[in-house]
Amino acid sequence: MTTHDVIRTQKIGIMGVGNMGQAVLSAFIDSGIVPRENIIIANRSERKLKKVANEFQVRSVNTNEQLIDESNVVIIGVKPQDLYQAIEPIASSFHEDHVVISLAAGIPLASLEKLIPNAKKILRVLPNTAAKIKLSVIAYSSSAGATHHLKWIEDLLSTMGFVVAVEDGEMMEAMVVASSSGIGFVYELMMYWQEWLGERGISANIAKQVTTKVFAGAAAMAEAAPQVSFEELLRKVTSLKGVTAAGLESIRELEIERALRISFEKAAMRDKELGQTWIKID
Ligand SMILES: NC(=O)c1ccc[n+]([C@@H]2O[C@H](COP(=O)([O-])OP(=O)(O)OC[C@H]3O[C@@H](n4cnc5c(N)ncnc54)[C@H](OP(=O)(O)O)[C@@H]3O)[C@@H](O)[C@H]2O)c1
Repeated sequence: MTTHDVIRTQKIGIMGVGNMGQAVLSAFIDSGIVPRENIIIANRSERKLKKVANEFQVRSVNTNEQLIDESNVVIIGVKPQDLYQAIEPIASSFHEDHVVISLAAGIPLASLEKLIPNAKKILRVLPNTAAKIKLSVIAYSSSAGATHHLKWIEDLLSTMGFVVAVEDGEMMEAMVVASSSGIGFVYELMMYWQEWLGERGISANIAKQVTTKVFAGAAAMAEAAPQVSFEELLRKVTSLKGVTAAGLESIRELEIERALRISFEKAAMRDKELGQTWIKID
């Protein structure tokens, strides 16, 4: 039996079909490996539930308990601040065969394990917003009970992009910052690129396209050469005393690396703070 065969046999319930829930839904359906009829959705507001069910042609149920009862895989797509309220009253509906996938940023795996003690296969999964176009980085950490299921679960998650297994704690926190917030940090850099071109007479529209192509081109070149380090790629585009070298000298003098490090650390601290306010299970 291949991993795709295993995926095809799963009944997948998505609890909360907002932005991320819909991105997951769309990735699963478009992949062709999750049959539409095996997907069930539930959502707090009925209006959105009906709309999404209609748009994606999947079955909806009115309660989260029903969703849990009818699913093998339960994907929790509610906001972190809503998670405790959504799950705590119905935690006993889960049983040990369920695979539970929480998408909630900032909620540690250990807290999920305490919140849903009956479930033994729990994953904390962190996609980023590029899941909408299936170009997400998807970091995950999992409870010990999920170990023998990770192959097909990784395949399922890879319908949204590139999957990386990490330990919960510092590694996951690093992914929250570099992958989830990372998209925002890159946009901030892209804004400076665009503005600078604009100040020299290039229209905002063209400047946006040029900026996007430069970032995409650099990323594509790095992706096409997986064995080549970023240092080596940089060396190849930097001739001695040339234009790039002059610019890089200032980037280093101005300690952009230090600024980024401080920003990353600050974001990581905020992630910790938010996680502590969102859930009090201990
Ligand atoms: N958006 C991203 O790029 C992104 C990236 C990484 C991780 N995430 C994670 O993904 C999760 C969802 O984020 P989002 O941006 O998709 O939020 P969202 O658009 O607000 O979606 C959350 C959905 O959950 C529903 N909901 C709330 N309480 C519920 C309950 N008790 N039962 C059933 N459904 C319930 C909401 O229903 P109504 O509002 O319709 O009432 C809403 O449709 C969060 O935990 C977030 O941390 C999101």
